[in-house]
Amino acid sequence: MGRDRMASSESTAAADVEVVTTITGIRRITDGHRTTGRSVGFVPTMGYLHDGHGSLMRAAAAGNDVVVASIFVNPLQFGPGEDLESYPRDLDRDRSLAAANGADVVFVPTAIEMYPLGEVLTTVSVAELSQRWDGESRPTHFAGVATVVSKLFNIVGSCRAYFGEKDFQQLAIIRRMVADLSMPVEVVGCPIIREPDGLAMSSRNVYLSAENRSAAIVLRRALDAGEQAIGGGETDPAAVARVMRSVVDDEPRARLDYVAVVDPATLKTPAVIGSETRLLIAAHLGATRLIDNCSVRSGPEPA
Ligand code: PAJ
Repeated sequence: MGRDRMASSESTAAADVEVVTTITGIRRITDGHRTTGRSVGFVPTMGYLHDGHGSLMRAAAAGNDVVVASIFVNPLQFGPGEDLESYPRDLDRDRSLAAANGADVVFVPTAIEMYPLGEVLTTVSVAELSQRWDGESRPTHFAGVATVVSKLFNIVGSCRAYFGEKDFQQLAIIRRMVADLSMPVEVVGCPIIREPDGLAMSSRNVYLSAENRSAAIVLRRALDAGEQAIGGGETDPAAVARVMRSVVDDEPRARLDYVAVVDPATLKTPAVIGSETRLLIAAHLGATRLIDNCSVRSGPEPA
């Protein structure tokens, strides 16, 4: 984008990315760009950025004039006993990674800036889609996500917003929220970025011991086994789930949370596997809960 940034008392320029901490400050910037006809790409994150986040910023930079990324570890989406306090944070590193991947502005609000009244009385929850799979283990999680993302959309304003397929259920929930509430946002889903051995990148991978890090590729192996079963003609979701489960059962370091064979739009398990299926998995490696998923097509390749 043009480097004609607006002066802003609460912002500092560093590593070629502007850091803004207030809602007023970020609104002034995005409103200013839209007024002059520039499109805004928005990448919401909780920081401790890796190349998965970087890929969203690159996609946003390729499709828009200005890229805003947010970094906010959102207390609302953490349940009791989850890792809110210990969630990894490194703002200096995040600023460099954001700048290197094409972000122009990073919005880093405090919890008080986002939730000035403390308790939040108004929340957004997306029924049905939020209750299954991850929602069963984390019953308040997706309402926390939907609430903060709708807040961020209200703050940033009309934009294209980039989300990873890594959090496939989250992506489906955000798409549904935007459609149901007519939010002026175009949601763009982006592919999962993986480590060379196949582990999906995640800020939480840093928690893994060396042994659990090696064992963590069991998630990818279980997805591969499910994909192979479908490729081999299996059409019964329960049979595919059994195959995936047995891969995880063979890894003593992993404790399975769930495997799911779902329709990508409804996230419901179909009676019979159709042409488009999504395989989902969640498992604990030690105290760390990891999720992964993949898309599987069955039947003839589309022309
Ligand atoms: P966070 O876990 O930081 O992820 C921010 C975005 O990066 C999400 O859209 C997520 O799907 C994407 N992402 C994470 N790992 C990825 C990978 N390996 N490949 C591709 N994309 C990846 O998701 C959240 O934060 C929060 O719930 C948030 C939406 C910011 C609301 O607080």
